[in-house]
Amino acid sequence: MEKQNIFLIGFMGTGKSTIAGEISRRLGMVQIEMDTAIAEKQGMSINDIFKEYGEAYFRDLESDLLIELQKKKGMVVSCGGGAVLRSRNVQNMKKGGKTVLLTASPETIYQRVKRNHDRPILNNNMTVEFISELMEKRRQSYESAADIIIETDGKSVSQICEEIIQRVYGNEHIFTI
Ligand code: S3P
Repeated sequence: MEKQNIFLIGFMGTGKSTIAGEISRRLGMVQIEMDTAIAEKQGMSINDIFKEYGEAYFRDLESDLLIELQKKKGMVVSCGGGAVLRSRNVQNMKKGGKTVLLTASPETIYQRVKRNHDRPILNNNMTVEFISELMEKRRQSYESAADIIIETDGKSVSQICEEIIQRVYGNEHIFTI
């Protein structure tokens, strides 16, 4: 039987992609990167989609992708940081799986994202203050969307993955590292 899906949600830079890669490797699941899937489908980078068509259009693409993903099982999905801002997106995630919120402090996030220019929301706002304020604005959406919350500050990738696997699948899974 294929495993129920894991949807990793949370702010940019909380490690969703890294953790999705490691969990999918350990459990032989399929890794889906929402941003990568959207960029490939459109034949454009996320930055260019925002520039050419605007944020609302990008949000529609996210919603469409989540509808498509509902049909599949055995996936670890790394969701875009804003995907939970629409409640219907969250409903669609929960139809086929568990939502796991990764959290980190604004300082940790800043250190992880400061040299990256692929995130239109942060491109002209690369400060701890901006990250902190946007995180506060979104906190309620993240927390209410989450089935499970995992704090990542000070933990290794391995520790985070073990915590998630244990909490989502319990003892049905024996670790292979
Ligand atoms: C966004 C997060 C990004 C990407 C887009 C918008 C957001 O994904 O979807 O730049 O609004 O938080 P990551 O969280 O994977 O960086």
